Amino acid sequence: MTSAFSPRYGDHDAPATTLTSPAIDLMLSHRSVRGYRPDALPDGALEAIIAAAQSAATSSNLQTWSVIVVTDPAVKARCAELAGGQKHIEECPVFLLFLADLARLTRVASGEGLAHAGNDTLEMFLVAAIDAALAAQNACVAAESLGLSTVYIGAMRNKPEAVAELVGLPPATAVVFGLCIGFAAEGKEGSVKPRLPQEAVLHNGRYQLEAQDAAIARYNDAMAAFNERERASTTTPWTVHSARRVAGPESLSGRHVLMQVLRRMGFFKAE
Ligand SMILES: Cc1cc2nc3c(=O)[nH]c(=O)nc-3n(C[C@H](O)[C@H](O)[C@H](O)COP(=O)(O)O)c2cc1C
Repeated sequence: MTSAFSPRYGDHDAPATTLTSPAIDLMLSHRSVRGYRPDALPDGALEAIIAAAQSAATSSNLQTWSVIVVTDPAVKARCAELAGGQKHIEECPVFLLFLADLARLTRVASGEGLAHAGNDTLEMFLVAAIDAALAAQNACVAAESLGLSTVYIGAMRNKPEAVAELVGLPPATAVVFGLCIGFAAEGKEGSVKPRLPQEAVLHNGRYQLEAQDAAIARYNDAMAAFNERERASTTTPWTVHSARRVAGPESLSGRHVLMQVLRRMGFFKAE
């Protein structure tokens, strides 16, 4: 049965609901864009996008994230290089770097004459990284609601110390990912990419692992059809692509040493 959810799942696996809303429709139409026009963002767009980001829930209202807006072509070019040559970073008019930021909270505690050893834990790094991700996703949805396009850049974690130096980060801050924002270039608008059937990710009261196999096999077919439609260069099944991504430390683009690097950058020193 074809429904509003079909592009996200394919006809076979669209959930059996017709309930939707403008917000849900917008989120269902998300696609990452990797080619941008040079046009600037409309006046006020950045401020509105950041207000949306700041409106995300944040652990204990600590707001342990920050964002750096990069528009300088030279800095964007260096970011693109550090991300393994991702040209869309240079093309987009606005490149946001989302930070896990425990420096502000450390300063606030010091200003109050209080200790802040709790900041040196894995838990507080996670709090900051989760806060940054929630804020960024709100930014992403807000941008798309304005007719703009986005793509996250996790590759900013390939060389975190070089990125930190480039934008002058103090200890206990780190870029967790970047986000390109701009108007999609003609022909680069992308398409809605199917996701796993809900049967694989939605568990009724109790987690089921083996029961996901059939849904995963159907997802391989849905992704194969998507790649054919998009004339994608890859014919690799999703399961093979995903398995390769975690095959060994060498498949993590240098990020397998992230724990040591983040410790040098002032995170989880207590662990
Ligand atoms: C945290 C994160 C990091 C990502 N990093 C990159 C990246 O470095 N380069 C890139 O081209 N896409 C990146 N992506 C985009 C994903 O590849 C994309 O979201 C996924 O393939 C699904 O496609 P869609 O967003 O078009 O639905 C990233 C996405 C997330 C959430």
